[in-house]
Amino acid sequence: MSLLEEIAEQICSCQRCPLGETRTRAVPGAGPEDARIMFVGEGPGRDEDLQGEPFVGKAGQVLTKLLQNIGLSREDVFITNIVKCRPPDNRDPHPDEVIACREYLDGQICLIRPKLICTLGRPALQTLIDPTASVMKVNGTVIRQDGLTFVPLIHPAAGLHNENMKQPIKDGFKALGRILADYV
Ligand code: URA
Repeated sequence: MSLLEEIAEQICSCQRCPLGETRTRAVPGAGPEDARIMFVGEGPGRDEDLQGEPFVGKAGQVLTKLLQNIGLSREDVFITNIVKCRPPDNRDPHPDEVIACREYLDGQICLIRPKLICTLGRPALQTLIDPTASVMKVNGTVIRQDGLTFVPLIHPAAGLHNENMKQPIKDGFKALGRILADYV
């Protein structure tokens, strides 16, 4: 078993925070161990909780399409979340839950060593890069920090609730498409 698989196994039996009690299935993440790009969302939703796979619901369909538009397939990238278990009613993960889960994400980043880490949405941006950053301001830009290269993006689900977000989401992914040529 690889170290990444060992982390996944630990996640699946984790009880470090109360989300361990309410989840159906934990969602460690999916993708190749040598992925050059990693996407980090917020946390599993209902479909992900049932299937144990990240981004398989409506937001996942949007993500798949946005990736295709810039020549990427889901199989090319590693997809995970800042918390690996579903927060009830899809609420934002609580700070203590994010802290409890952080070691798993750091372990995944260390082992995969991606060239680019794309945060999806505010919680991932504020957890991994800057607790005060605004996702609209940094969408589709390159941020180098702690020896890692990040590209924050608006969460694909934002366009499902708000038509006005669809264009900025597409713009962020288009910018990522251009950045890939330089970094990946
Ligand atoms: N939204 C997320 O942030 N993560 C998922 O895995 C699914 C939806």
